[in-house]
Amino acid sequence: MHNSDRSIHMAAARQRVEADMNAIGINETFIGELVDTFYGRVLAHPELGPVFDARLSGRWPDHLVKMKSFWSSVALRSGAYGGKPVQAHTGVANLTPELFAKWLELFAATLDDIAPSKAARDWFMATAARIAQSLTLSLFYNPALDDPALIVRK
Ligand code: HEM
Repeated sequence: MHNSDRSIHMAAARQRVEADMNAIGINETFIGELVDTFYGRVLAHPELGPVFDARLSGRWPDHLVKMKSFWSSVALRSGAYGGKPVQAHTGVANLTPELFAKWLELFAATLDDIAPSKAARDWFMATAARIAQSLTLSLFYNPALDDPALIVRK
């Protein structure tokens, strides 16, 4: 395949993704609203708020811009985000696997309130759950706790 054929193919695939997402109400406007609403609730959350704010105090506007470009890259293939999510979370103090469950709960509650459609809600939840799973494995996975030899048999 010629390189220019490939880039034409990529542009067409991206347009198809964007059209499919737009059809269920996912576009830049909704992503902006979702990020602003969700992180507003994160900041007000008794456990999530302090963990985020300890790291992001004074840098919230940048974080929100980054999260909007992140979701627009994932949902619309906009290519706007080029960061490294695992690295970004390695130094976050008091981050635990349990906190990820609370993050997902709050994300679900936010989508229940503002998602433009059930399909949009389901897409965001499935995607966030997959990313949360991948982040928690990268951050916390300990093979020593996952050794079949350690399973106690009765
Ligand atoms: C309890 C769970 C989580 C906590 C406490 C947390 C906290 C944070 C904090 C403090 C930052 C800013 C890092 C910095 O700029 O210094 C950050 C960045 C980020 N987070 Fe999370 N996060 C959580 C879960 C998630 C999940 C589930 C996702 C994806 C669905 C996610 C995606 C991102 C992305 C894309 C960035 C930007 C990374 C970059 O700098 O490029 N986070 N997170």
